[in-house]
Amino acid sequence: MLLQSFLIALSAPVLSAYRFNPLEHSAGIAPYFTPHDPPLQSSPPQGCNVTRAAYLVRHAAIYANDFDYETYLEPLVKKLQNTSQNWSSTKSLRFLSNWTAPISDEHIEKLTRVGLQEAQSLGATLHKKYAHLKTPEKVWSSTAERTVKSAQSFIAGFTKNHTNLVNLTQVEEDKKAGADSLTPYKGCSAFSSSYGSDQSSAFGKVYTKPIIARLNAEARSFNFTQDDITAMFELCGYETVIRGSSPFCSLNLFSPDEWLGFEYANDLMYFHNTGYGRPLSASLGMPWINASVAALDNDTSSQELFVSFTHRELPPTVITALGLYNNSAYTGANNVNDTMPEDRINYNRAWKSSEILPFLTNIAVEKMSCESYGFDEGDYYRILNNAGPQPLVGCRDGPGGSCSKEQFHEFVKGRDELFGDYNKACGGSDLSGSLSIYKV
Ligand SMILES: *[C@@H]1O[C@H](CO)[C@@H](O)[C@H](O)[C@H]1NC(C)=O
Ligand SMILES: *[C@@H]1O[C@H](CO)[C@@H](O)[C@H](O)[C@H]1NC(C)=O
Ligand SMILES: *[C@@H]1O[C@H](CO)[C@@H](O)[C@H](O)[C@H]1NC(C)=O
Ligand SMILES: *[C@@H]1O[C@H](CO)[C@@H](O)[C@H](O)[C@H]1NC(C)=O
Ligand SMILES: *[C@@H]1O[C@H](CO)[C@@H](O)[C@H](O)[C@H]1NC(C)=O
Ligand SMILES: *[C@@H]1O[C@H](CO)[C@@H](O)[C@H](O)[C@H]1NC(C)=O
Ligand SMILES: *[C@@H]1O[C@H](CO)[C@@H](O)[C@H](O)[C@H]1NC(C)=O
Ligand SMILES: *[C@@H]1O[C@H](CO)[C@@H](O)[C@H](O)[C@H]1NC(C)=O
Ligand SMILES: *[C@@H]1O[C@H](CO)[C@@H](O)[C@H](O)[C@H]1NC(C)=O
Ligand SMILES: *[C@@H]1O[C@H](CO)[C@@H](O)[C@H](O)[C@H]1NC(C)=O
Ligand SMILES: *[C@@H]1O[C@H](CO)[C@@H](O)[C@H](O)[C@H]1NC(C)=O
Repeated sequence: MLLQSFLIALSAPVLSAYRFNPLEHSAGIAPYFTPHDPPLQSSPPQGCNVTRAAYLVRHAAIYANDFDYETYLEPLVKKLQNTSQNWSSTKSLRFLSNWTAPISDEHIEKLTRVGLQEAQSLGATLHKKYAHLKTPEKVWSSTAERTVKSAQSFIAGFTKNHTNLVNLTQVEEDKKAGADSLTPYKGCSAFSSSYGSDQSSAFGKVYTKPIIARLNAEARSFNFTQDDITAMFELCGYETVIRGSSPFCSLNLFSPDEWLGFEYANDLMYFHNTGYGRPLSASLGMPWINASVAALDNDTSSQELFVSFTHRELPPTVITALGLYNNSAYTGANNVNDTMPEDRINYNRAWKSSEILPFLTNIAVEKMSCESYGFDEGDYYRILNNAGPQPLVGCRDGPGGSCSKEQFHEFVKGRDELFGDYNKACGGSDLSGSLSIYKV
């Protein structure tokens, strides 16, 4: 009897079942999340204290960006308003009979309430995490309303609403500023925001084909197109950050396999837009790295925590300049585009835009003082992506995969030699090639 109940207890699942969450595969429309299984623990390694840190943060969740709205969302919404399709007689699309669009023209690019709350909550989280560091005198943001308001909410969360403790410095999104801004791609003539759309669209055609066929069989009068399907995937994320949930996230509508198709189409776009697919990308990220390391090493500056808000383009270029999420790492080869085929998914890729650029995505350089068993006493550096430590390739001789001061400076110098020439990479003239906002 006893044995029997013991066996029953054993057969009960020890681990809770895995549940696929579409929002964690929504690329640039993913609400903020921290990874479940970062490569290393988030807290400092044993014997180490963080003494300074620099953060680059994407703005919080918005209703929709201009491009997504005009290209995908608005056309679908208009088509839905003018269709003779009877949705009640369908299976997975029944909800469309009384669904209303959560977005209209006046909302474009504006932060949602959920987004503002999440920015506050990030502020509170970092305040707790760095309770031993001085409250920063300054926080920086580029001048767009969504980056400024994200920074203001962050400050409110960080200071428990004593917002006068921190000054927000706005940095012009000026083409002429070149790399001396939080939007260095704007002054870069070699950069185009449409890079990657061909590759993404090529794969989009592949993964949406069976979806279109299935939905057209269900709803014979609607005539779904590739852009309609893209809009529906995007609405899962956008509607969730607006209303808190969305029927487009239902796994009865799109299966997990189909979500991975949507995600991969996005990964292709960002890979060629601001990632390894284009050599230019790393040169756009290098100025922030250089300036941040200089700020962390500047003993005459009393500021210990440097936080800056920008748009989705910058964090992936910083990731690339640091050599993180590199599909080719540890392969001994560097066949950049072969790692991202356009007709099928490379499931084992490292480059996943949902992890690299969700709303409020943040990449940090932490400087630590360590007296750690088995390591020399001294300063070490590490990189966090959304709180998950990411060891640098060839720069991880310290505790917990961190990098010693000497090696880290060598590493940054080496990356600067490869990617540091902003004007050359951008094919431009004599704009500022480095970032100086942290010097004052
Ligand atoms: C509405 O649908 C009808 C028939 O499908 C079409 O002729 C008409 O152009 C559409 N109107 C708009 C505003 O899209
Ligand atoms: C739509 O389909 C439902 C279920 O098949 C049916 O009850 C209803 O009458 C239909 N509505 C119209 C306007 O045809
Ligand atoms: C339409 O909305 C009503 C009220 O919110 C809800 O009760 C009903 O189930 C909805 N119908 C469908 C088909 O989703
Ligand atoms: C913010 O800026 C104002 C005006 O320059 C200055 O008086 C104030 O001391 C600054 N506050 C902090 C916390 O640095
Ligand atoms: C700060 O103010 C907002 C509303 O303005 C409120 O929701 C929030 O709870 C306040 N936070 C703290 C820590 O008091
Ligand atoms: C369906 O949409 C496609 C793409 O817009 C168009 O070429 C085709 O004519 C449409 N078919 C019907 C039956 O409306
Ligand atoms: C170091 O910080 C001080 C005070 O903020 C500033 O004046 C100086 O320009 C900084 N130096 C460098 C190299 O960033
Ligand atoms: C990515 O990894 C490959 C293989 O190790 C390496 O050759 C290449 O330089 C890396 N790319 C970047 C931008 O670090
Ligand atoms: C990868 O593809 C992009 C876009 O087609 C192209 O610009 C780039 O030169 C390719 N990279 C390599 C190493 O072939
Ligand atoms: C880290 O901080 C703790 C608590 O303040 C202190 O006891 C310890 O000596 C510090 N270690 C280093 C390496 O600074
Ligand atoms: C990085 O800093 C080094 C040393 O100060 C400088 O020579 C180089 O131009 C800087 N590069 C960038 C991209 O800021």
